[in-house]
Amino acid sequence: MSKPLSQYSVENLQTLEAELAREYSHVGGNRLSLDLSRGKPGADQLDLSNGLDAVIDGNYFAEDGTDVRNYGNLRGITEARQLGADILKVPAANVIAGGNSSLSLMHFVVSTALHPGLWGDHRAWRNSPTVKVLTPVPGYDRHFALTAALGIEMVNVDMTPQGPDLEQIQALVTEDPSIKGIWCVPKYSNPTGCIYSQGVVEGIAGLSNLAAADDFVVLWDNAYAVHDLYFPAESLASVFLSAQEQNTADHVVQFGSTSKITFAGGGIGFIAASELVLAQLEKQLGLMTIGSDKVNQLRHARFLNGRLEEHMQAQATLLRPKFELVLKYLQSELAELDIASWTSPKGGYFVSLDLQPGLAQQVIAMAKAVGLTLTHAGATFPHGEDPRDNNIRIAPTFADLEELEVAMQVLTLCVKLASVRNRLNGT
Ligand SMILES: Cc1ncc(COP(=O)(O)O)c(C=O)c1O
Repeated sequence: MSKPLSQYSVENLQTLEAELAREYSHVGGNRLSLDLSRGKPGADQLDLSNGLDAVIDGNYFAEDGTDVRNYGNLRGITEARQLGADILKVPAANVIAGGNSSLSLMHFVVSTALHPGLWGDHRAWRNSPTVKVLTPVPGYDRHFALTAALGIEMVNVDMTPQGPDLEQIQALVTEDPSIKGIWCVPKYSNPTGCIYSQGVVEGIAGLSNLAAADDFVVLWDNAYAVHDLYFPAESLASVFLSAQEQNTADHVVQFGSTSKITFAGGGIGFIAASELVLAQLEKQLGLMTIGSDKVNQLRHARFLNGRLEEHMQAQATLLRPKFELVLKYLQSELAELDIASWTSPKGGYFVSLDLQPGLAQQVIAMAKAVGLTLTHAGATFPHGEDPRDNNIRIAPTFADLEELEVAMQVLTLCVKLASVRNRLNGT
């Protein structure tokens, strides 16, 4: 196989199809049970944080004397807010350290934007007959699910290697006052792994100055802010500073969490915003809770403050070989045939694979039939609808290296077989 599939004669395609089909039926006999759908840390990564158990050691008092066993302190304890500030690269005064999940904080912020609004004045999304949010695609399925569940329409914009297409975004927000916000995963985006360029960060930070809506909000989910695979770490331009410069700080809300730093779903979620917005959010938060789990906040702060990068380097040591293995297989099995393209992220949790149009569902079903579960087709698009049916999200973190190797053999085999059959059907 040393040339693009498009240059194969029908006869060569038939020979290759027979070879690959034989290999596929052989794999089918192996009773595999593999899974590349789970964007979760592996057990070895979780082990890196077992020290969380010991750091409280009977001392429940925060630096300022707060007894973390008791109610109160809606914005979180000082050292946990500092941890959020170090992750999101903003001042600690602009951070709320919350409960165990940034996703629940996103739901909370979007609900607050709908009603009663983020600014303590007349502006609230629910005053508009239609509410829409821009969704760069491919993107994170849970953003889409929560947006749809709150009755908000989604308008797709294209991702580029530098982030979402800024010109498309600027045209849309300028024209349509029902467009109230945009979802962003600015560093190691889920699933493409791209990092937004400085121009894109600055453009997005300034959107509320251009928007026809006066209640436009940038939902900046920096879930992979410190999840670098290589060091020195890649940098992301500061949306916080850019928003301050452009006088739009009240229209940018950032999110982060320690979910993929320590224990997934057992960490701290963070919000960063201007004081005006934080004050409104604190008021609303007070209706839901008398305070988050400050014992958890304290143990995280004690465990991570001052050694965050060292901890993330240890995570990277475990994850790098997995990403490199995935990329090695994509390159060695698919590159010469020229039947797919993929991203090569330097961090985060995913590799995004684009097949020839119309093949994603088919490849995912073929893989499933021989024991490899992949993220379901369309998951990276609102309402599960990938208009080109060509995107597959690969999540290499949870499987161990041996499983990952077999999984990539199976995946690339399915891609080749489906692509050859597709070509034969089209000839
Ligand atoms: C982009 C993004 N945001 C948020 C989350 C979930 O974060 P949390 O565990 O803090 O709710 C994930 C998890 O996969 C994610 O990929």
